[in-house]
Amino acid sequence: MIDKIEKPEFWESSFIEKQEMWGFEPSNSAALTKNFFIKMSIKNILIPGIGYGRNAQVFRDNGITVTGIEISKTAIELARKHYGADMTIYHGSVADMPFDNCRYDGIFCYALIHLLDSSERQKLISDCYNQLSDDGYMFFTAISKEAQTYGTGQFISKDRYEIFKGVKMFFYDKESIHAEFDKAGLFEIVDITENYPFFLIKCKKGEVDN
Ligand SMILES: C[S@@+](CC[C@H](N)C(=O)[O-])C[C@H]1O[C@@H](n2cnc3c(N)ncnc32)[C@H](O)[C@@H]1O
Repeated sequence: MIDKIEKPEFWESSFIEKQEMWGFEPSNSAALTKNFFIKMSIKNILIPGIGYGRNAQVFRDNGITVTGIEISKTAIELARKHYGADMTIYHGSVADMPFDNCRYDGIFCYALIHLLDSSERQKLISDCYNQLSDDGYMFFTAISKEAQTYGTGQFISKDRYEIFKGVKMFFYDKESIHAEFDKAGLFEIVDITENYPFFLIKCKKGEVDN
């Protein structure tokens, strides 16, 4: 584990209290992305916000090497406990990307981007794009404005609310997805149901000049 942060925050407290809070099954978007990545012969991927690894294992079971980034030390310890120590997980915030100078064939980022503010989202998209190999793919899942929680909690800025203490969410629609991802090779947006209505946002390096 490679440490870059010291202070505990919302996610660390949540994993200490609730441990494997989403169970061990991969999300629907991880399963779909895994099928696509296998078809494209993708061999090594990066998962920013890897949590305790439930979405990583489905890729690893199919021969894909996974590297993670995770802000919660406890989540990383849970990943080690359940899935072994032979997976590199950088301990720190995606705000501090890049953590290495590797190029990845694929990036899968589940339910993280909507937790960030506008400039952090832009930085994450651009840092991920820069770490993709030529012709690589990056898929993000993000919450939709169709979610019942949209518009609840404390208003922060357009489409961004503090849903409960410590958790701010930006709710996407197709327009904001195009605004943020067109320059990062966006080629498809899929509606997908997880615990909330989500979008699966698919980008390919080389689709545009960045
Ligand atoms: C909604 S959870 C999704 C977790 C995981 N992808 C899953 O579904 O199993 C968001 C994850 O991102 C992590 N996270 C939140 N903010 C982060 C940041 N700035 N940098 C890195 N990880 C972060 C959280 O600790 C948590 O594991």
